[in-house]
Amino acid sequence: MVKPTEVLSTEDSPKDKIIVALDVESSSEAISIARELKSMVGAVKVGMQLFTACGPEIVRDLAETGARVFLDLKFHDIPNTVAKAGIEAARLGVWMFNIHALGGSEMMRRTADEVASVCEKEHLRRPLVVAVTVLTSTDNNTLREIGIDHSADEQVAALAKLASNSGMAGVVASANEVRAIRKMVVNPDFLTVTPGIRPKLATHDDQKRVTTFRQALADGSDYVVIGRPITQAVDRAAAVQSILCELED
Ligand code: C5P
Repeated sequence: MVKPTEVLSTEDSPKDKIIVALDVESSSEAISIARELKSMVGAVKVGMQLFTACGPEIVRDLAETGARVFLDLKFHDIPNTVAKAGIEAARLGVWMFNIHALGGSEMMRRTADEVASVCEKEHLRRPLVVAVTVLTSTDNNTLREIGIDHSADEQVAALAKLASNSGMAGVVASANEVRAIRKMVVNPDFLTVTPGIRPKLATHDDQKRVTTFRQALADGSDYVVIGRPITQAVDRAAAVQSILCELED
């Protein structure tokens, strides 16, 4: 029986909880950041910019550097299409990939089941499949704009419960909602992956529901996703170091 890809235990060091978002435009830049930060962070994330620019080859190349790769393409389509895309993500060797919880329980369940079954048959490592709840760039006004009357907190908690009941390994949400998710979801191993992390005095860019690395860990985030505060820093290694140092303040 093929085991799901390994999840870091809570004893692992804080640096292993950092996933660096490689939101850059070239393969050479992405690989160079991954190599530079390899021993300083837990994983790298390939999102739609890098994937659209470089294709699936970038995932294989990053995996070859020894990095764990989170494929952040936020699949959201009919259940069959998402399940088949998930199978291809597993065949690429990703450690984690995500789909939108808003796609509903059938889409999530079929993806989890079909990915698990192909991984078993083809002796592949089973990736963690996590569901995006509400983007961290979305606030209550954005939700109203698209016809959702619940607050971001309520919407995240409801989608987290649905995701957990539909076979997802965890959710992507703001760290501000981790406590509410833990109350709503019974499974103690349910993962929370939280973007929208900013060093104390940094700009928020387009993120709205932000928090610091220290607060995210205190609230119980399993993994944090950090992009621009690291990738756009003049000295990226120093930027990671200074984020880690926040824990000692
Ligand atoms: O640069 P920054 O730290 O804001 O990057 C956050 C990353 O996390 C981006 O790649 C963004 O696409 C991703 N993300 C997010 N909110 C989600 C899911 C993913 O910001 N809910």
